Amino acid sequence: MWPYPTMIAHRGGGSTAPENTIAALAAGLRHGYRAVEFDVMLSRDGIGVIMHDPDFGRTVAGTGSIAATDAADIARLDAGSWFGSEFAGEPVPLFVPFAEYCKSHGIWMNVEIKPAPGHDEATGRHVAETVRRLFPAESGAGSDARGCASGLPLLSSFSAAALRAARAAAPELPRAIAFEGLPDNWERQARELGVLSVHVDHVQLTPALAQAVKAAGFGLFCYTVNDPGRARTLLSWGVDAICTDRIDLLPADFK
Ligand code: G3P
Ligand code: MG
Repeated sequence: MWPYPTMIAHRGGGSTAPENTIAALAAGLRHGYRAVEFDVMLSRDGIGVIMHDPDFGRTVAGTGSIAATDAADIARLDAGSWFGSEFAGEPVPLFVPFAEYCKSHGIWMNVEIKPAPGHDEATGRHVAETVRRLFPAESGAGSDARGCASGLPLLSSFSAAALRAARAAAPELPRAIAFEGLPDNWERQARELGVLSVHVDHVQLTPALAQAVKAAGFGLFCYTVNDPGRARTLLSWGVDAICTDRIDLLPADFK
């Protein structure tokens, strides 16, 4: 039902390093984490970049947007200075080398498909095609290698359109639907999209909802859980995975 690690570093390295950067992955490794969540968005020229916000201004300076900027220009932006001067010049990673870094360091990936507005299908398709290219042996036609040991990433999204496009491009890749609170029709959506797991904001979860997700046969992933007591409670409700910013407080082998 959930063949992946329990503890997952949010946006690469949580709050220990600038989000969605190689420095974040390195911080995760230093804290013993071998499982990460990160966000992929498409540049103007259709290349996946590791970025959460569609518009510049928070993690990179300026007033532009990812969807209106070519990848080569995005890759030159400074994604580290906002976090701390010691990270000045840390670039915005492109998806392929970022995923290759994870692969070569034995880091399992939850790739969140994060479309800029209006780019759902293209982003879902691009992420799925890229992952299939990066994992040819594991994701070959007919493969059902979904476990962590296979190394195959889990593709998640809040966008049903992105997940449909990902499924059309590479149906063998495991998928997950993300929600803030679970809508009444969560199970119909999850079944229609053929997902392995359901990802929710832990604040909106109740023991009854957790039980319903598990009873329906899905993995249950909670974000973003930063308090050890809360993490323990969620695990006692049957939650399978905890995505955290506090990789310094919640060890990778937290139980
Ligand atoms: O995938 C879990 C979590 O990352 C979803 O929220 O906004 O941090 O991408 P966000
Ligand atoms: Mg995310």
